[in-house]
Amino acid sequence: MRINKYIAQAGIASRRKADELITNGNVKVNGAVMKELGYDVKDGDDVQVNGTQVKNNRKLVYVLVNKPLGMITSAKDEKDRATVMELVQDIDERLFPVGRLDYNTTGALIMTNDGKLTYRITHPKHELEKTYRVLVKGVVSEEKVRRLRSGVDIGGYITKKAKVQIIKGGQKSTLVEVSIHEGKNRQVRKMFAAVGNPVQELERVAIGKIRLGHLRPGHYRKLTREEVEYLKNC
Ligand code: URA
Repeated sequence: MRINKYIAQAGIASRRKADELITNGNVKVNGAVMKELGYDVKDGDDVQVNGTQVKNNRKLVYVLVNKPLGMITSAKDEKDRATVMELVQDIDERLFPVGRLDYNTTGALIMTNDGKLTYRITHPKHELEKTYRVLVKGVVSEEKVRRLRSGVDIGGYITKKAKVQIIKGGQKSTLVEVSIHEGKNRQVRKMFAAVGNPVQELERVAIGKIRLGHLRPGHYRKLTREEVEYLKNC
């Protein structure tokens, strides 16, 4: 972490003030004055400001929430609707959602204060497989399943290959499991609209290997160390 951010996050000064402290020679790293603004603080470095050791104890926190219906996945809403920030209010660190789920989509959403990881896993290059349980209106024929698997036109964009499996079929509605590697706006809803089966309920059940399991709507759990490592390496 850059030294000015390290000092700012420790609550000593704003980043601009931290830059001043650095250029004025008030900051030492491992006993020597450090005037390099771009210095990258390493684990175990002894950083001192005016002779006092600075400890940046900010913890990186990673949780999986089960987003309920009728909540938006951003930090603030101009229409004052409920946001997923409410689900992690009892965590001291300020967490942010990784990616989006529609207002009326439920299920798995990762939240973290690790900006580097967020950037990595939302970058199209790394797009993780996301799995959805989708309740749609009407019968989904084998022909439609083939079309959904190979790619459908969702308004000027042909979707990439998808995994599609019928879980339970009926005359009135069908439950389908879909896995996709991309995240166009309202993609799953648009895919089913394209084959004539409007979505009635949409739940994300997995993000890569991280599964929602029995986590109840509105609740969260911390990701395990293995899950965090998996995300860092995917
Ligand atoms: N696809 C959608 O249509 N909506 C979501 O929230 C996620 C995927």
